[in-house]
Amino acid sequence: MCGIVGYVGRQQAAPILLDGLSKLEYRGYDSAGICVHGPMGLEAMKTKGRLQALRDKTDDGKKLPGVIGIGHTRWATHGAPSDQNSHPHLSDDGVIAVVHNGIIENYMELKEMLISKGCHFHSDTDTEVISNLIALHYREHHDLLEAVRQAIRRLEGSYALGILCREFPRQMIAVKKDSPLIFGFGDGEYFIASDVPAILKHTRKVAYLEDGDMAVFTANSVSFYNALGEPVRRTPETITWELSAAERGGFPHFMLKEIYDQPNVLRDTIHPRIQNNHVVLDEIPFSPSVLKKIRRIYIVACGSSYYVGCVAKYILEKSCKIPTEPIVASEFRYADPILDENTLCLFISQSGETADTLAALREAKAQKAKTLAIVNVVGSAIAKAADQVLYTWAGPEIAVATTKAYSTQLATIYLITLYLAEVLETMAQEEIQAACKALYGLPEQIQACLSQERITQIQYYASTLFDHRDAFFIGRNLDSATCLEGSLKLKEIAYIHSEAYAAGELKHGPISLIEPGTLVLAIATVAPLFEKTMANIKEVKARGAHVLCLTTEDLEQEAKKTADHVITVPKIHPLLQPSLNVIPLQTFSYYTALARGCDVDQPRNLAKSVTVE
Ligand code: F6R
Repeated sequence: MCGIVGYVGRQQAAPILLDGLSKLEYRGYDSAGICVHGPMGLEAMKTKGRLQALRDKTDDGKKLPGVIGIGHTRWATHGAPSDQNSHPHLSDDGVIAVVHNGIIENYMELKEMLISKGCHFHSDTDTEVISNLIALHYREHHDLLEAVRQAIRRLEGSYALGILCREFPRQMIAVKKDSPLIFGFGDGEYFIASDVPAILKHTRKVAYLEDGDMAVFTANSVSFYNALGEPVRRTPETITWELSAAERGGFPHFMLKEIYDQPNVLRDTIHPRIQNNHVVLDEIPFSPSVLKKIRRIYIVACGSSYYVGCVAKYILEKSCKIPTEPIVASEFRYADPILDENTLCLFISQSGETADTLAALREAKAQKAKTLAIVNVVGSAIAKAADQVLYTWAGPEIAVATTKAYSTQLATIYLITLYLAEVLETMAQEEIQAACKALYGLPEQIQACLSQERITQIQYYASTLFDHRDAFFIGRNLDSATCLEGSLKLKEIAYIHSEAYAAGELKHGPISLIEPGTLVLAIATVAPLFEKTMANIKEVKARGAHVLCLTTEDLEQEAKKTADHVITVPKIHPLLQPSLNVIPLQTFSYYTALARGCDVDQPRNLAKSVTVE
C-alpha cells in the first residue's frame, strides 16, 4: 500500500526521496510523486506508473532543487491510478502540500464543506481534503501547528502524513494515526518513512511513532507531541540489520532470495527459544495459572498468516487439547465472537499493520480476551497493541508473496504449542523433548528441501505444467491446511485459478470440475491418511486429472503407483511436516510464475502491507 518518505537536511532532497521510494516499491503502488520546497516555493511532480517514470520526469530529481521534500508511492483506493490522483496533493491555494497513507472515511462530508467555502478540487482522492482543510485553518489562524491540529481533529480514519507549507521553507510536520510512520534521526537531517529500508542508507536511529503523534522538525531540531498535544520524547532505537537484508543479494527476485533465506531466519526464530530440549518463551506474559484457565483459542489473521492459523488448529488441538478456531480477521470483527478472559486470541501478521487484524485485535482486547501477537515488523501497530508480542525474526520481507514470514510464523506456532503443552501437561515429557529436538533441527531439514537436485526437479515440473488454466490442491488433515497456502501462492504470483480442498471433500461437489488434463496437486505426507489420499487421487485420475503428488521420501515408491508424478520432502516429526511441505509449493509457484512471464515480486493488484479494510 502507499509509501511515504520525507527529508529535511542539507542535501538535495529529491534524489533521497526517489531512492527512499524505490525501497518502498515492495509495498505495491501504481503511481508516484514528490514535492520539494525549493527556490520557486512548493514544486510537485507526479506521475502514474512505475518509479522510473517519475525519475525520467524529474531528471532523477534534478528538476526539483531544494533540501526539504516529501515523496509518495500510491496504491489507488479513491480514484483510479492517474497523474492527477497521485500524491503529493497541494491545497487549492497552493500553500499546503501533503502525502498520505491511509483512508479518510469522512472525506465526502469534508469535501462538500470545503467546496461550499469556494475550494476547488483537482483529484478524486480523499487526501486532497487534508491539504485543503489544513490550508483553511491556516488562513484562519496563521498558525501552522494549530491549523494541522484542528484539521486532524476533523479527520475520521487512518493517516500517516508528511506536510509542507509554502510559508515555512525549512519545516516539515508529520502526523500518525493507524498507519505506519517512522522517524529517522540523522546528523543535521531528519527523515520520515513508512518503513525502515527507505532511510536505512542514511540513518540507523529510528523512532516508531505512536498513534496520535505529531513531529515538527527542521534540519536542526525536532519536537514531538502526543495525541493530547503534550510535548513528548521519542527516543530512537538502533536498527541492527543491514540494508543488504532488504536487497536481492544476487538473486533475480526477492521472492527467490527469501525462499533461500528460510534456513537462516528459522534458526534466528527457533534456536534462542529452545534450551535443553525445552521451549523457553520469556515473551509469554501469562502465568501458568492463567494459561491453565484458557478454554478456547482464536487465531486471527489474513491471507497466508491465516493459513498458518489453519495449520495451527491441528497442532494446538492435538498437542494442547484446547479448542482452537482460525478465523480471518475481516470476519472475526463482525462475527460477534464469544470472548472472555479465558479466551486466548493469537494475532498473526508479518507486517504488523494489516488493518483488519489490527481492528480485530482491538475488538478482542475490548472484550477482555488475552491477546498475543506473532509479528515480524518490530514496533508495528499490532506488535504495540497486543498484550504481548512474539517476534518472528524473518528480517525484512520484500516480495509481496510471503515465504519466509510464513515459515517463521509456523515455527513460532510450534514454539507456543510445545510451551503450552508443557505448562498444561498435555504431552508427555519425552514427547515434548523429542519434538523440541526435531524443531531445533528444522532449519537443516529446510535446507535439504532446497537442495539443487530438488530445485531442478521442481523447475522441470514448473516448465512442463505452467500453462494450465486451473489447478486443484488436495490433502487431508495438516496437508489440507498446507494446500491452502500452496494454492494461494499459485494464484497470487502465477495468476492460475486454483482451489484448495480437503481431499475427502472433492466428491461433495468440486469433482465436477475435474476434466481431462486438469492439474491436481496432491499432498500426502500424513502417514496414517496416506492410503485415503491415494484413493482420492484415483478418483480424480479416473476423471482424467493430471496429478503431481508431494509426499515424504519413505512413501515415494508407494505414491508413484498412483500419481503421475511424485516429488518428495524429508520425513520429520509429524507436527513439523507442514514446514517442509510448503517449500516445494513455494518454489513450484515461483518457477511457474517465471515461466508464465509474471512479475513475481510485485503481482498485479496486490500490496505488501494492507492498511485498508
Ligand atoms: C500472501 C500474503 C498475504 C498476507 C496477508 C496478511 O502471500 O503475503 O496473504 O499474508 O495480506 O498480511 P500480514 O501477515 O502482513 O498481516
